[in-house]
Amino acid sequence: MDNNKRGSWATNFGFIMSAVGSAVGLGNIWGFPYKMGKSGGFSFLLIYILISATVGLVMMVSELAIGRKTEKNPIGAYRALSKPFSFLGWMAVIAPFLILSFYTVLGAYCLEYMVVNLSHIVSGGAALASGAETFTEMLISPVSSLIYTLVFIVFCYIINRGGVSGGIEKFNKIGMPALFVMLLIIVARSLTLPNAIEGLKYMFIPGYAVDAGFVEKAPNLITVLATAGGQVFFSLSLAMGIMITYGSYLKKDESLVKNSILISVCDTIVALLAGLAVLPAAIATGLSQGVAPSEIQLGGPKLLYITLQDVFNSMGVIGPIFGAIFYLLVVIAAITSTISLLEVVSAYFIDSRIERGRDPKRTKVISWVCVAVAAEAAVVAIDGLGSNGLWVPFQKTFGTIGSFNDCWLDFIDTFAEGFLMPLGAIIMSLLIAWIIKPKTILEEISPDGKKSFFSVFYTICIRVIVPVIMILVLLGQIDSFFALGIFN
Ligand code: PHE
Repeated sequence: MDNNKRGSWATNFGFIMSAVGSAVGLGNIWGFPYKMGKSGGFSFLLIYILISATVGLVMMVSELAIGRKTEKNPIGAYRALSKPFSFLGWMAVIAPFLILSFYTVLGAYCLEYMVVNLSHIVSGGAALASGAETFTEMLISPVSSLIYTLVFIVFCYIINRGGVSGGIEKFNKIGMPALFVMLLIIVARSLTLPNAIEGLKYMFIPGYAVDAGFVEKAPNLITVLATAGGQVFFSLSLAMGIMITYGSYLKKDESLVKNSILISVCDTIVALLAGLAVLPAAIATGLSQGVAPSEIQLGGPKLLYITLQDVFNSMGVIGPIFGAIFYLLVVIAAITSTISLLEVVSAYFIDSRIERGRDPKRTKVISWVCVAVAAEAAVVAIDGLGSNGLWVPFQKTFGTIGSFNDCWLDFIDTFAEGFLMPLGAIIMSLLIAWIIKPKTILEEISPDGKKSFFSVFYTICIRVIVPVIMILVLLGQIDSFFALGIFN
């Protein structure tokens, strides 16, 4: 356990697996496939790849470079780059802390679903409750939600306590390849169901989602850009201090550009595979049960906790086996993202101790961070997406505005993902483009400082493309959280 020093990665493979582990999460499974189908299929994919290859790549390289250059957590890193901008560091530590409040609960729900499916295997698949029943039952049981949430947090605590190479890297090196294999098993099952082709059409053929009645109307181009941009950001775990923190553990001789490309490519491949795993199964099962296309829930929590459980229920005796494998893979995806969020917050306290000439005391810091996360997560877990009324007093005060104040989860999510993330990205690009100048980052990327294709590409992206796309994302987020209806 590297308890007495700042951590570092043991191998580049371990770093890549950890960064991919952070990137691959619920966003890949319940966000990407659904948004892709709804927003234009293959043409959405092209736009997504284009934004990944420009905005995503540039932001990821920048964050890794900032981390590696300063060898600090986000707050220390921005302070070292430009004192007046240290608030950006605070944004990049507060946002992950807030996200942890619900990400841990969503991970815990998956854990609960895994257990439900495992118990069905044991009981021979008898007396299966429908997805909707299982979900409601879970939400209105605050005690068991709380227990699962605590178990989930303890699990992540044990991993992070092991250190950067001894805990995070070790878990990701095994967890991510395992996740990949499990995903392939589910894809194989999903694609061989009768009617699976409908899912492929929904996912890939532009306009099919509307023509076949899955969605009412196609979004316009601006909305598609905002959706794709937001998804790239969330999916690559950008503007959350994560790549800064993970970059700060990276050796000087690793190529940041190559690593970043690899991370984005892996993340997109997993998102596509997740689509192949969930959409054909969800659509095939829904249609064969006579559900109208517009009624099949293909995204968000309902996809994961209602539609897919019904899919496994409909598979007979082998259903719970596939269910258990599937929810286990989602649990791993949630854990590897959660530990990256935890590491950002912990790194701040560890670095502060080192700066003051004290022992880092990693174990102690992580214990306290986990206690704080458990406290905020308890509110979200007990609230049960609003089922248990913890949010009611606030709703009475504010009234209902879009999804922003449906429940505790949405309220915190609006703040973190809706504002802090895009705003952080916009300010960061302005800081690099005009205050510290692209040169500062480019020097870290290639120390010989020669002008190259990449340096020109980087400068154009950070000055123009990143701010434009991120402003769209910010407006898109505000629009969707507050249901303003500016974009459609
Ligand atoms: N990238 C993760 C996902 O796709 C979510 C995440 C966002 C994790 C930000 C950490 C930080 O679900």
